[in-house]
Amino acid sequence: MNANTSKPLLLLAFLALATPGGAADSLEFQPGEVWLDTSGKAINAHGGGMLFHAGTYYWYGENKEGRTWLPESTKAWEGSRVDVTGVRCYSSQDLLRWKDEGLVLRAVPDDPAHDLHPSKVCERPKVVFNARTKKFVMWMHIDSEDYKAARAGVAVADSPTGPFRYVESVRPEGQYSRDQTLFQDDDGKAYRIYSSENNKTTYISLLTDDYLKHSGKFARVFEGRHMEAQVVFKHAGKYWFIASGCTGWAPNTARSAVADSIWGPWTELGNPCRGPEAEITFRGQSTFVFPVAGRKDTFIFMADRWNKTNLADSRHLWLPLQFKDGRPVVEWREKWNLSFFAH
Ligand code: DGJ
Repeated sequence: MNANTSKPLLLLAFLALATPGGAADSLEFQPGEVWLDTSGKAINAHGGGMLFHAGTYYWYGENKEGRTWLPESTKAWEGSRVDVTGVRCYSSQDLLRWKDEGLVLRAVPDDPAHDLHPSKVCERPKVVFNARTKKFVMWMHIDSEDYKAARAGVAVADSPTGPFRYVESVRPEGQYSRDQTLFQDDDGKAYRIYSSENNKTTYISLLTDDYLKHSGKFARVFEGRHMEAQVVFKHAGKYWFIASGCTGWAPNTARSAVADSIWGPWTELGNPCRGPEAEITFRGQSTFVFPVAGRKDTFIFMADRWNKTNLADSRHLWLPLQFKDGRPVVEWREKWNLSFFAH
């Protein structure tokens, strides 16, 4: 091979390495577009959350698959659904290329009474790693078809890619629990943040040291503010909060807040979104915010753009989150990647 023929070959080899899977691997985030995994299938991880563990990101979310239909019991508020199939996990090192790790928690079709029976509701799964027990703990919103059970489910695994073993569901603090998230603090304590009192008030509950139960210590925050899709993250020693209002699958205006302690008092800071359709969260709803490992002040806002007539085609919206004038700010970008934060 002479020097002239080797150059194009080298270029081809470089391109193959840079874009494994070809078109599947857009090297930019494209909020609202179909996002393919490394096998070329649309990423299916809704209402999800992120775990960074041993150098790898794990993205967990609802596997929304099959027909979307409207049960009689939720018709009044247009609560369409897909039957429960489970929680899917993807792994990545660069946050752009995602490998499908499969269903890490599966529906239980042969037991109609089981919390994970296809006829139930299993939403907003989040996972944290417990350094003491070396277990991966998943909490999720479990409900009946009519959303009246309003419970919190917990599952546990030895590996981030499961399989997760479903443990039980509870009504923490004797109250309703619907939309939910987890927050793990620097001191290893983990909290579950959820819509309670029939979605009127948000609760923050400290989990037990093994993260498998509610400790009994909790706070009622944003009383009467009717919030869903809660997100908590930490930056510069403060606790930050983003959530939506309660309008089913329809988008609404996001809210943000800050506190010096997870227990509050929380100060509301208004809508963190900026740009076209910012007043309806870019047609999305928050689900998680996480810091990018090894980078200063680099946070990603994850949201869902729900499609209530075809929930399986709901899209993922990832946008950069910045802090401006003491507020979290999420600006619309059609395309972006982590080089955004270099500016
Ligand atoms: C809004 C919640 O945030 C979603 O997780 C889901 O429960 C829908 N409501 C159902 O309409």
